[in-house]
Amino acid sequence: MCGITAFTGKDAALPILLSGLEKLEYRGYDSAGITLVDDKGLFTKKAKGRLKDLEDMLDVPSFHQTTGIGHTRWATHGVPSQLNSHPHTNAANTISIVHNGIIENYEGIKANLKAKGYEFQSETDSEVIVHLLDYYYDGNMLEAMKKTVNQLEGSFAICVLSTDEPDTVYVAKTASPMVLGKSENGTFAASDIPAILEYTKDVLILEDGQMAKLTPNEISVYTFHCEPVEAKWTHIPYDIEAAQKGGYDTFMLKEIYEQPEAIRETLRGRIEKGEIHLEDLEKLDFTKINRVYFVACGTAWHAGIYANTLFQKWIDVPSICVAASEFRYSDPHVDDKTLCVYISQSGETADTLAALKMSKEKGAQTISIVNVLGSSIARASDVTLYTCAGPEIAVASTKAFTTQLALVTLLILKIAELRGTDVACKAELLEGLKQMPEVVSAMLDKHELMKEYAGFLKNQQDAYFIGRQLDYVSVLEGALKLKEVSYVHADAYFAGELKHGAIALIEKDTVVIAMATQPEVAAKTISNIEETMARGANVILITTKDQPAPKFKYVIRIPDVHPLLAVIPVTILLQLFAYYAAVEKGRDVDKPRNLAKSVTVE
Ligand code: F6R
Repeated sequence: MCGITAFTGKDAALPILLSGLEKLEYRGYDSAGITLVDDKGLFTKKAKGRLKDLEDMLDVPSFHQTTGIGHTRWATHGVPSQLNSHPHTNAANTISIVHNGIIENYEGIKANLKAKGYEFQSETDSEVIVHLLDYYYDGNMLEAMKKTVNQLEGSFAICVLSTDEPDTVYVAKTASPMVLGKSENGTFAASDIPAILEYTKDVLILEDGQMAKLTPNEISVYTFHCEPVEAKWTHIPYDIEAAQKGGYDTFMLKEIYEQPEAIRETLRGRIEKGEIHLEDLEKLDFTKINRVYFVACGTAWHAGIYANTLFQKWIDVPSICVAASEFRYSDPHVDDKTLCVYISQSGETADTLAALKMSKEKGAQTISIVNVLGSSIARASDVTLYTCAGPEIAVASTKAFTTQLALVTLLILKIAELRGTDVACKAELLEGLKQMPEVVSAMLDKHELMKEYAGFLKNQQDAYFIGRQLDYVSVLEGALKLKEVSYVHADAYFAGELKHGAIALIEKDTVVIAMATQPEVAAKTISNIEETMARGANVILITTKDQPAPKFKYVIRIPDVHPLLAVIPVTILLQLFAYYAAVEKGRDVDKPRNLAKSVTVE
């Protein structure tokens, strides 16, 4: 997800642009750039890598320009490189733009512009914007903006500078975020409120189909047809931390609710016309692998179990999922024919990092699935695939997990394809993933129900999560989430294993949360659950739309999804269950006792 900042006013623009981009770092990026403007012209600087790399190229105090735009780029079209970084400028170096989003019809526009003699410097979709503006500009930038934006399809938030108006920034947006702000010292634009909150609490959230002209004292809003719009200003009554919480009581709840968008972002650009696009995978040789390890810790380990289950279903190479803390000391068989896949939200977990380093020393090919850009695990792997969940602040992992599930599904399907293995349900799964944000939203709508069911734990010390096959992934994750945030003891069992011991613990009012979403075993799970009901358990059943379950009082049905993807909607329900159980018990939900967000010690 790219990040955008813009400023025009009385103060030097550069520090404001850079500090705003820093607040947007959570969105993820692989390059950064700025353009400043004054009556001497445009000054543009870009760098591949971190914001720090850009700052190191600039002697910040020596730039006095009071108008500028800034950008952090998350590569979609074209590799991360200086040329593909934003801002993009026209040939005369009189117009500069930054863009967040994807211009879906850029190829056609590019061909037309090339036919008119325009030359392109980058491989990006965004560069068409600056050349279109150049083409339409005849002294009236708002008119040129109108003609340009009405030609663009897809999603965009754009900021524009021009040497003809060195104290003005033009912006436009559709389907990508853009907030504007105003203070005594100037006006601001950014992709998110925290980027400008240090300077102003008066913000205007630009709506889809709107453009604006920012001068040091004024912001004027227009439709895409240049009709003036009455701006709706909002005063943000909270500080940066609260702004980051976005109005939710806790980070955990906010992050649970961010999942539709996090999954959408993780899939963005990775499924196109039924094909999977995963960056850099061609660097590896999947035909030579004869053993695969999925390695991770905690919640990420559960994503590893899910990945391994899919891998075993489709690919005829022995594979196993191992907790990183065990992998290191189990003398695993690793050589240059081994593929090791590491999964980590933080990218800093000590056990996972050590396991990765060990497997590299032994010659394995390595892939990591990581959320934090530029983290140690990301840097040490042969190939890194990022979940684009945004920053996960609450200790308990939520959106990182569901985005890991979505991304590993793509990864395993892609490995199958690269090995020439046909997965019969591939098209159905890709379609199912694309629908997942809506499915997740439907699950979030069940929050009141989950709150009510979490109330069953009021006087209970224990809970039992049961399920079979892929439901076991949800079972493990549901139990872990409940333990860590509510401190209720929770166990995860294969439903069929209950009768081999744990059923001895079931008595009147014991809370059992049962998952039965896998068609081949759902009926069997249900009969296992009935055994607990016969002993007085208070059972909450999560199952599919059509699964008969006449004996159950508390049943939640997930929407129609492919059974291999059911773990995602089920997990959302279990996250809400754990969250409300913790709130009911008065726990510090975001910072549970004894736990750290990033476990950098063994
Ligand atoms: C549970 C949780 C932990 C982490 C584990 C690995 O909610 O957050 O179990 O999943 O510590 O952390 P990462 O994914 O950062 O490697």
